[in-house]
Amino acid sequence: MANETPTKTGALTQGKPYAVELAPGKPYFFCTCGESSNQPFCDGTHKGSGFTPKKFTVEEAKTYYLCGCRESANLPFCDGTHRKEAGIRKYNEFLLKRNTELTTKLALLDKKVKLTTAVAAAAAGVAIVLGAVRLYGR
Ligand code: FES
Repeated sequence: MANETPTKTGALTQGKPYAVELAPGKPYFFCTCGESSNQPFCDGTHKGSGFTPKKFTVEEAKTYYLCGCRESANLPFCDGTHRKEAGIRKYNEFLLKRNTELTTKLALLDKKVKLTTAVAAAAAGVAIVLGAVRLYGR
């Protein structure tokens, strides 16, 4: 296995390793930035971020556990750091960030629902007035 140590850690994508079946001799590109949509593999999203994918190969076909917290000292492979202080802290930060994002989305949805309800009430009011005008306006 060919490994290089990255200079900084990317974003946690999950609080546990990825179990993946890998084939011997095939080059893989582990996502070090944590922004790929094809986790745990690079999809090119890192461009311009200062991160570069970690190319690696394996020597036998089997299930490998690739790091999801980006804190392993043996990237791309999990070394159990996600269960230690650095990994748990990073996971908590990830959950807090996701919670903030979801709270913001919920507030926006709530505003949309209120606006839609107001528009529907206004439309109903207009329909009633038009109906009354048709009925009694002659
Ligand atoms: S998308 Fe993360 S390293 Fe390429």
